[in-house]
Amino acid sequence: MKTALGTVLITTEEIQRRIAELGQQISIDYSGGTVTFVGILKGSFIFLADLIRAISPDVLVEVDFMAVSSYGDATTTSGTVHIEKDLGISIEGKDIIIVEDIVDTGLTLLHVFNILAARGARSLRVGALLEKPGNSKYNRPLDYVGFKIPSKFVVGFGLDYAQHYRNLSDIRVLNEI
Ligand code: IMP
Ligand code: MG
Repeated sequence: MKTALGTVLITTEEIQRRIAELGQQISIDYSGGTVTFVGILKGSFIFLADLIRAISPDVLVEVDFMAVSSYGDATTTSGTVHIEKDLGISIEGKDIIIVEDIVDTGLTLLHVFNILAARGARSLRVGALLEKPGNSKYNRPLDYVGFKIPSKFVVGFGLDYAQHYRNLSDIRVLNEI
């Protein structure tokens, strides 16, 4: 498929402003406590890097990453995910925020959520930079959402097409040409 970068959907300034708001909200919600972020690789790494720097020093922040690949079909919840890279820390008894770049069908998130819930996290919330309207598999409201976007394929700010464009500091639509 031939593709070309299209219009800017969310500007750098809009992203940074929204991340500052999310950081403030998380700082209030976890004030005086510790929060452990679990970033889902690779797409979340830029969002997560900016998000944790928007959190008050009054909150202790831990970070770890997981990489998963989904097998099977996005139209059923019977598909499963394979853990390519697991966490290096125990999450038992911890307050976790799972961080995704974008939640589309919610299938990836559903599986990661269930895996982490089974490991005895004390609390489990979800943050995503972007949410598409198709989030039907996870089936719960996301706790911290940057932007709700239409069902278009977007790249930038960590999101890729065929591993490219993660470096853009804004979010752009990718068009077929
Ligand atoms: P889900 O399991 O359908 O929610 O898909 C989530 C994953 O699909 C994200 O973490 C992305 O890696 C990828 N994805 C979904 N929509 C887009 C998009 O518009 N651009 C880039 N990646 C996307
Ligand atoms: Mg991803």
